Amino acid sequence: MLHRPRRLRKNAIIRNAVAETRLSKDMFVYPYFVTGGKNIAEPIKAMPGVFHFSVDRLIKDVEKGLKVGINKILLFGVGEVKTKNASSSFDKNSIVAKAVRELKNRFGDELYVITDVCVCAYTTHGHCGILEHEYVQNDKSVDVLAKMALAHAQAGADMVAPSDMMDGRVLAIRQTLDKNGFENTAIMSYSTKFASAYYGPFREAADSSPSHGDRKSYQMDFRNGREALQESLIDENEGADILMVKPALAYLDVIRELRENTLLPIACYNVSGEYSMVKVAAKQGLVDEQKIVMENMYAFARAGAGIIITYHARDIVEKGWL
Ligand code: PBG
Ligand code: ZN
Repeated sequence: MLHRPRRLRKNAIIRNAVAETRLSKDMFVYPYFVTGGKNIAEPIKAMPGVFHFSVDRLIKDVEKGLKVGINKILLFGVGEVKTKNASSSFDKNSIVAKAVRELKNRFGDELYVITDVCVCAYTTHGHCGILEHEYVQNDKSVDVLAKMALAHAQAGADMVAPSDMMDGRVLAIRQTLDKNGFENTAIMSYSTKFASAYYGPFREAADSSPSHGDRKSYQMDFRNGREALQESLIDENEGADILMVKPALAYLDVIRELRENTLLPIACYNVSGEYSMVKVAAKQGLVDEQKIVMENMYAFARAGAGIIITYHARDIVEKGWL
């Protein structure tokens, strides 16, 4: 026999030597939900192991994470006043702005702070933009998103991450940041984001479900792979620093294809539904949590993602799964 691939699978030493994909702590971004008030660490029912934190408790938890090497976080604001025009989203004293200021004050450059830029948690109707005549108005939404990104940059965010899927928002955010002296604030675009049922648990966590209709007039149709690539390449042209595919598990083909068509770093978002399905199945004893989590993480890396945004990040690093 000329080919015996099993030779290189004989023991762990040789398997490790020929492993094509490696993971490192540096690849992980851990998401947080931050809310008003004090001393709040409220478990989110739909996402076992994830909490709503007030800023004081957030700081404590981030400190714990930093000790084990989680040095990149993604912040979502929860529980702000909801209005038609999402004015609380770009308030200089929004919960996210406050959290960023306090985190950067406390941890400085030890901690890299990324903020989610989208208005669905700040609008009465829960859509990711400004709703008029029952349609999410693209250009008016872009104006608000640019203001929100600027408010986060002014608070000290290292990177902003628009997740709304309006057309032209990356360019508008880039221009607004540059005009105001934030040319070094980076943009990680949720560049290929699908209209997905996998966001279910998150919408409970962020209280951001659309009160009527769905997000299909702005998020992408999951039947489309060519358009998926086009969406990301448009954002590259608009000045995005990092491109992202979201969700991750059902879209490994999209990650791979993007990898072959851009020179920018690629992130993937292992979203709430993907996370909670694993947690619940593990709790039921149907799967081994560590093994299934790591199999998923290697799949993202193998597909071509260099940055993995995941609620599993803390377990992976704290429990020594790497
Ligand atoms: C807001 C936003 C969503 C997620 C990240 N930013 C929800 C949505 O678009 O409905 C999903 C994250 C997750 O499911 O973990 N636009
Ligand atoms: Zn949104």
